[in-house]
Amino acid sequence: MDKLIIGNMKMNIVTLAEREHYLSLFKKELKGCSLKETEIVLCPPYIHLETLVKKIPKKVAIGAQNVFWEREGSFTGEISSAMLKNIGCQYVILGHSERRKYFAERDGEVNLKMLASLKTGLKPILCVGENKNQRNNNNVIIAQQLKNCLKDVNQSRIQEVVICYEPVWAISANSPNHLPTADEIMSARLVIKKFLVEKYGLKIAEKVKIIYGGSVSATTVRETCLDSGMRGALIGKASLDPYEFIKIAKIIDN
Ligand code: PGA
Repeated sequence: MDKLIIGNMKMNIVTLAEREHYLSLFKKELKGCSLKETEIVLCPPYIHLETLVKKIPKKVAIGAQNVFWEREGSFTGEISSAMLKNIGCQYVILGHSERRKYFAERDGEVNLKMLASLKTGLKPILCVGENKNQRNNNNVIIAQQLKNCLKDVNQSRIQEVVICYEPVWAISANSPNHLPTADEIMSARLVIKKFLVEKYGLKIAEKVKIIYGGSVSATTVRETCLDSGMRGALIGKASLDPYEFIKIAKIIDN
């Protein structure tokens, strides 16, 4: 499939009853939806992964929101890529700004997670993007993050990686005025593309999906994702509402 819509459910869906409710609404929406070129990925908290793999129709891929780079051992509280793969996960979000902010995650760690995920056969969704203070300098920030996080990722593996431009200041924005314009998103896309072309060559770079994330809704998806030439979206809040989420998926698909 050429396009992607990814739901980053973050630390939501607290009870089993909420999960069942979400699942039944999601399946209902999915029934009326046949997408031609867009793959749907849902990334719930770890604790719901196995159930979603089992209960969501196979046309929806399931991903985790984080991973640890070692395979097994004395790493209290961590989950490995082998564990994720073993229960049927296909994707993993890496380097999300909330992990960088609240858990002090740096590019070096993201790179270790990237290499471990690729080795295991998980597809990494790498988040890059500037914070508010770095907005005027975002090209440099994005290129630096890509250089660090994709260190030692070779030509044969890069095609498995999805790159998501997520300006930190646009995540959970309260008003459409706080979103980047289609031109701003397009110019970030071109910075990412240029990096990929220089490192991997044009032919391979074209195969890497570049998507946008940050307050995407059915109202904002056209300007943020389509007008900017992105191949999909990473969606936080709106992924918690299956009706809205599938509505966005249909818009991306067309
Ligand atoms: P949002 O979150 O859609 O709620 O802004 C996106 C994200 O953080 O991935």
